[in-house]
Amino acid sequence: MAPAELPLARILSPATTLPQDTLPSATNTAVSMGASTLSRPPCHSTTVLLDPLAAGVAPRETHISAGRAEPATDEHDFAEALMSEERRAWQDPSVVVSAAGVKRGSSVADLGCGPGFFTIPLAEAVGERGVVFAVDSSETMLSHLRRNLSGAGPGVAARVKVVRADVSRTTLEGGAADVVLFANVMHDLADVPSFLREVRRVMKKGGAAVDVDWRKVDNGFGPPLGLRLSESESRGHLRQAGFSEIKAFEVSPYHYGFVCRDLAKGTFRRS
Ligand SMILES: C[S@@+](CC[C@H](N)C(=O)[O-])C[C@H]1O[C@@H](n2cnc3c(N)ncnc32)[C@H](O)[C@@H]1O
Repeated sequence: MAPAELPLARILSPATTLPQDTLPSATNTAVSMGASTLSRPPCHSTTVLLDPLAAGVAPRETHISAGRAEPATDEHDFAEALMSEERRAWQDPSVVVSAAGVKRGSSVADLGCGPGFFTIPLAEAVGERGVVFAVDSSETMLSHLRRNLSGAGPGVAARVKVVRADVSRTTLEGGAADVVLFANVMHDLADVPSFLREVRRVMKKGGAAVDVDWRKVDNGFGPPLGLRLSESESRGHLRQAGFSEIKAFEVSPYHYGFVCRDLAKGTFRRS
């Protein structure tokens, strides 16, 4: 069944809300929204449990060219799929790290970090004087992140501060990061303007925000087309949020990327 055709009953099944269940209610839109208002899954961890194809990766042990396959069924499988060699074959995280302009000593916020596909290369790139704030609402994803960090190179884990929070209302200090990355996250948020206000609050003056997301074309897997944001929709959101310079870069055959700056202003307060 195509992800877009999933019955609402599956979207609302109790298992779909588990990863967010223990978050404070203000951040737990998945739990608080009623059936009639849930027109789209509020976050990826919900989508994950529906179908990892919908959530953004081909399932483990399935080659991309094989098209649809039997999906993995839980968030642990999804977390592993996000770190798979198969994904690395078409999405090289170092391309994003380099386009983002991450340097030794940089501070980076990886919002919606998942199990660390970008977090770990970011932490390698910032070196021992840098820091990466890895933010996610899903304890399952963060448990995979911690495990993946424990297998990373010397000193890498010590540079990563793991933060469990909603990406639209983090506990990070204003101006905490030179670079704020959000990869495969924005399409899944019900309130993009609020999220981008938080991005701007967290971003240092003169810093960069980096958006990576799925192209809005039917490539046979990934989030349902109806959820995806086209490049022009994302650009519109980013411009609306006040980014005056939005430069596109090549990420993968399936993704677009933008490096965004505000040439006029600096950090923003939470509104
Ligand atoms: C598709 S995964 C992408 C993970 C990682 N950025 C990557 O590209 O490998 C999306 C991640 O965003 C997290 N997420 C989705 N909505 C969120 C929210 N409102 N607050 C915090 N994390 C969220 C999910 O738990 C999941 O780990």
